[in-house]
Amino acid sequence: MLLFIAFLHLFLLPLGIQTSLVYAHDVPLERRGTSPFDTATQAQWQALYDAVEGRLYGATPFAQACFNGGFNSSACQNIQTNYLNETTRFDSFGGYINTQWETCQTTGQRCLLDYINPSNPTPALPPNQCSLGSVPNYYVDVRKAEDVAAAFNFSKESKVPLVIKNTGHDYKGRSSAPRTLGLWTHNLKNMTYNSSFVPEGCTTASPGVTMGAGVQWGEAYPFAEANNITMVGASHSSLRKGSDKGVGTVGGWLMGGGHGALTNTMGMGADRVLQFKVVTPDGQLRTANACQNQDLFYALRGGGGGTFGVVLEATSLASPPVTLQVVVVQWTNPNATLTAALWSILVNNSLVWSTQGYGGFVQGESAIYLTPTLNQAQSNATMKPLVDFGLQLVEEGVEGATVLVLQFPSWGTFYDAFAGDHSADLGTSLALASRLIPKSNFETPASQSDLLAALLKAHSLSPGLRFLISPPTSYPGDGTTSVNDAWRDSIYHITLVSLWNWNATVDEKRAQYALSSEAIQPLRDITPDAAYVNEADVYEPNHEVAFWGTHYPELLKIKQKYDPDHLLDCWHCVGWNPNSPLFSCYL
Ligand SMILES: Cc1cc2nc3c(=O)[nH]c(=O)nc-3n(C[C@H](O)[C@H](O)[C@H](O)COP(=O)(O)OP(=O)(O)OC[C@H]3O[C@@H](n4cnc5c(N)ncnc54)[C@H](O)[C@@H]3O)c2cc1C
Ligand SMILES: *[C@@H]1O[C@H](CO)[C@@H](O)[C@H](O)[C@H]1NC(C)=O
Ligand SMILES: *[C@@H]1O[C@H](CO)[C@@H](O)[C@H](O)[C@H]1NC(C)=O
Ligand SMILES: *[C@@H]1O[C@H](CO)[C@@H](O)[C@H](O)[C@H]1NC(C)=O
Ligand SMILES: *[C@@H]1O[C@H](CO)[C@@H](O)[C@H](O)[C@H]1NC(C)=O
Ligand SMILES: *[C@@H]1O[C@H](CO)[C@@H](O)[C@H](O)[C@H]1NC(C)=O
Ligand SMILES: *[C@@H]1O[C@H](CO)[C@@H](O)[C@H](O)[C@H]1NC(C)=O
Ligand SMILES: *[C@@H]1O[C@H](CO)[C@@H](O)[C@H](O)[C@H]1NC(C)=O
Ligand SMILES: *[C@@H]1O[C@H](CO)[C@@H](O)[C@H](O)[C@H]1NC(C)=O
Ligand SMILES: *[C@@H]1O[C@H](CO)[C@@H](O)[C@H](O)[C@H]1NC(C)=O
Ligand SMILES: *[C@@H]1O[C@H](CO)[C@@H](O)[C@H](O)[C@H]1NC(C)=O
Repeated sequence: MLLFIAFLHLFLLPLGIQTSLVYAHDVPLERRGTSPFDTATQAQWQALYDAVEGRLYGATPFAQACFNGGFNSSACQNIQTNYLNETTRFDSFGGYINTQWETCQTTGQRCLLDYINPSNPTPALPPNQCSLGSVPNYYVDVRKAEDVAAAFNFSKESKVPLVIKNTGHDYKGRSSAPRTLGLWTHNLKNMTYNSSFVPEGCTTASPGVTMGAGVQWGEAYPFAEANNITMVGASHSSLRKGSDKGVGTVGGWLMGGGHGALTNTMGMGADRVLQFKVVTPDGQLRTANACQNQDLFYALRGGGGGTFGVVLEATSLASPPVTLQVVVVQWTNPNATLTAALWSILVNNSLVWSTQGYGGFVQGESAIYLTPTLNQAQSNATMKPLVDFGLQLVEEGVEGATVLVLQFPSWGTFYDAFAGDHSADLGTSLALASRLIPKSNFETPASQSDLLAALLKAHSLSPGLRFLISPPTSYPGDGTTSVNDAWRDSIYHITLVSLWNWNATVDEKRAQYALSSEAIQPLRDITPDAAYVNEADVYEPNHEVAFWGTHYPELLKIKQKYDPDHLLDCWHCVGWNPNSPLFSCYL
């Protein structure tokens, strides 16, 4: 082990990895010994370093500056102020949105502050230490295809495993793993609009936006607005907080399916993508579209990120601007009676509303519905039960009761008004669980009552439960994506979460995962096995079927074709190896 540390010093210093570079840091020393890095020779590291033109860095934990007596330093002040700031996190290789994926959950190695009060010094004082946890030890700041080809070659020869990180939003820890080399796609920020984009080798033109893999929705929406087009992207929201500005447009979101509030009528991300540029594990840069590498195109449209190659860019369909009818009803304080009354209205009307283009977001104390297909008079008529309910709350003087009936000239103007300055929930450790709810649960009075009861039961166990009204209910697709077909038969995507803080014990973390699984169980009991791969229980039962339905066997064949040496792997991904040391930090 000592030999290994000495070796790294000898090797890194001459390579010129210096703290003065923007993303470069001292090489952390805590994870050595029997590390797979022992398998990489100095010549292999040197070849990689040269091939990526020096963009090879040692990673640092996000909150490192706060430890070892640094809590009062200006660097740590900045971390404290921005501990819950998504920009600061995703601009930092060691920062993840859900913080347990920075830690090693099994060993407790971590470098966290107290998210409830980041200026609480206790987490940074001895005996607490700062460890790299699950953050990859080294990473390549990817700028071109050759960088990725060199990393695949390095991994194949040295047996050092790879992890692809884009924004670090993943709920299932698929963008971090201990003792790995990371491929960071965050800085691939190019974006261009072509009103008559033709996929290479095809003949049909459509308006398309080509985006580097690092582009995020907070960048794409203003771009769309400036070009007078609509892009369908991530969109959780509520009036008070939560937005998805930081989610990548091309990475895990797109490859896992990608839903938003416009998906009902305009499709999922996977439906709208026209072309990928991807480096497959053999080091080849390939173009995948409807006219070439169609198998890969199918797999990248729903089969999941981190599995078939490293995507460098994607081109997605651009649509004309949409006029949105928006209805909001909300109040302030949790009240089980009012939640039940609200949700009963929603459940009873959802079948009809789903045919009228509505998408939206619902929580215990709020509902936001929007549609791009009705005019205001039509929307007023169909939303009457919801609006009347809201007006009644206002009349009764329920605290904070609000009803809004609004029209927006575009998705961008709506998004600015509702999500504009809000940040996502982040900086916490959490266990998510979810379920897709099919039309059949809304069809009869009995199924409506059962669904409402299951939702209320789940909510009583997990008050953060949300309905994301974002399945492609009215969008049949062209039959060439690999997203679970259950998506198109569904009306709600229900999510819930359980949180824990920096000092939770292994048992406490396990209890939160168990709580989320238990909370979603009433919905599992009344629905088929179907859940969104990107927003699912880490321990989703029957996950191949739940995430991909009948597509799994075909996806597995494509995985074996393009990644025969298994250079890419991630938790519950197509063809994963559950026994891989990559997963040693999962509980
Ligand atoms: C606050 C928040 C809001 C969200 N809102 C939505 C929403 O509205 N709709 C929705 O559908 N989902 C939403 N999600 C879920 C989101 O789709 C997933 O978290 C997704 O994995 C994010 O992808 P990413 O590339 O941004 O993140 P990362 O964590 O960096 O990557 C996720 C996965 O994709 C892989 N990957 C990333 N980039 C590449 C690449 N270039 N090539 C190959 N593989 C790659 C990674 O290896 C990893 O497996 C939300 C998540 C959060 C935390
Ligand atoms: C693969 O790596 C080896 C060193 O590990 C190097 O000799 C070879 O040139 C590399 N090949 C490619 C295609 O980068
Ligand atoms: C930080 O400063 C406060 C007040 O100046 C002091 O009480 C505390 O001991 C300092 N903490 C550390 C870790 O140096
Ligand atoms: C978050 O951090 C970024 C820089 O990383 C900064 O520009 C922004 O103002 C911060 N946001 C908030 C709400 O402090
Ligand atoms: C980004 O765009 C610039 C300017 O068009 C181009 O030179 C560069 O090669 C592009 N980068 C990538 C990764 O596509
Ligand atoms: C748009 O795409 C078409 C077809 O591929 C191409 O001929 C044209 O040059 C592109 N326009 C721009 C501005 O890139
Ligand atoms: C935006 O596009 C729409 C239709 O695509 C068009 O009717 C409208 O005039 C355009 N607006 C501007 C400002 O270009
Ligand atoms: C819930 O709201 C109703 C209607 O305003 C009110 O009568 C009731 O007291 C509230 N319940 C609680 C627990 O606050
Ligand atoms: C829709 O309802 C709102 C709120 O009641 C009202 O202000 C608006 O005029 C109505 N629009 C139409 C076209 O009926
Ligand atoms: C919803 O439908 C159920 C079953 O028909 C019924 O019992 C309930 O009263 C309805 N709810 C509302 C708010 O109309
Ligand atoms: C965890 O830390 C919080 C403060 O961040 C403290 O209130 C709580 O008591 C600690 N829990 C345990 C089990 O030590």
